[in-house]
Amino acid sequence: MIEVKNLTYTYMKDTPFEKTALKNISFGVEEGNFFAIAGHTGSGKSTLIQIIAGLIDFKIGAVEVDGESITKKSARRKIGIVFQYPEHQLFEETVEKDIAFGPKNFGLNDAEVTKRVDEAMKLVGLDLSLKNLSPFELSGGQRRRVAIAGILALKPKYLILDEPTAGLDPKTRKNFLAEIEKLHKSGVTIILVTHSMEDIANLAEKVLVLTDGEILFEGMPRKLFTKTEILERAGLELPAATRLIQKFSRAGFNVNTEILTIDEAEKEIWRAIK
Ligand SMILES: Nc1ncnc2c1ncn2[C@@H]1O[C@H](COP(=O)(O)OP(=O)(O)OP(=O)(O)O)[C@@H](O)[C@H]1O
Ligand SMILES: [Mg+2]
Repeated sequence: MIEVKNLTYTYMKDTPFEKTALKNISFGVEEGNFFAIAGHTGSGKSTLIQIIAGLIDFKIGAVEVDGESITKKSARRKIGIVFQYPEHQLFEETVEKDIAFGPKNFGLNDAEVTKRVDEAMKLVGLDLSLKNLSPFELSGGQRRRVAIAGILALKPKYLILDEPTAGLDPKTRKNFLAEIEKLHKSGVTIILVTHSMEDIANLAEKVLVLTDGEILFEGMPRKLFTKTEILERAGLELPAATRLIQKFSRAGFNVNTEILTIDEAEKEIWRAIK
């Protein structure tokens, strides 16, 4: 598991621009979990995941991966991180070379690298015939898949994604989330940063809500969605299904409001009106 203990982080400390982005944060992500992180712009989400991935040095608090400090290389290697708009970071001449870059750096032999590239491409739904194309000959959605395949080829045990569906069209977005869910089912622990309460409702087992660098909520999404005050403070909206069931509840129907999906809402409404 990943454990964050009493983490405080300040950008540009001891300058006039000093900004404390995280204030005494503690939480854990269990192995195999689908864990979401939500919160308004500037709440500290990206700072937090970069620290968890070992990309930002910090002085106050601790981050441990399976009991080992993130400052150790072996701990960092268990974590893969996909930034927002990862396709901007492609730089090799071909799709294959781009995906192979990380595994090569790990010192794997050519046969193993090829195997990893093929596996990663299949995982993200990229046809192997695209291997020799330049990433710039691909569509935006395909480029993003290449970028993510490059991370998956490292076989991270924990995969962190920062708003991975931002800017994708609805269909690509849906496929994409289905693939992330597939990865999760195959045993990869997922940490998903998102503003989408719908995605959290459909996918996440646990959610952490940040506001101004502090934890406002940690727990099951269906519990979060009953806490209107927390959602308001965090600037988050309810999923449509939850909004609907709450309207029924306010209208006097005896319904359970801990609802996530349209299917759940439908069942609950039928039950109440029968
Ligand atoms: N490199 C930096 N230097 C100085 N301050 C920074 C830096 N990066 C982030 N910050 C500040 O730290 C705070 C947290 O930023 P962070 O990027 O972690 O927020 P976020 O929750 O990811 O926001 P968003 O939803 O917009 O991506 C913000 O106040 C931001 O201005
Ligand atoms: Mg961010």
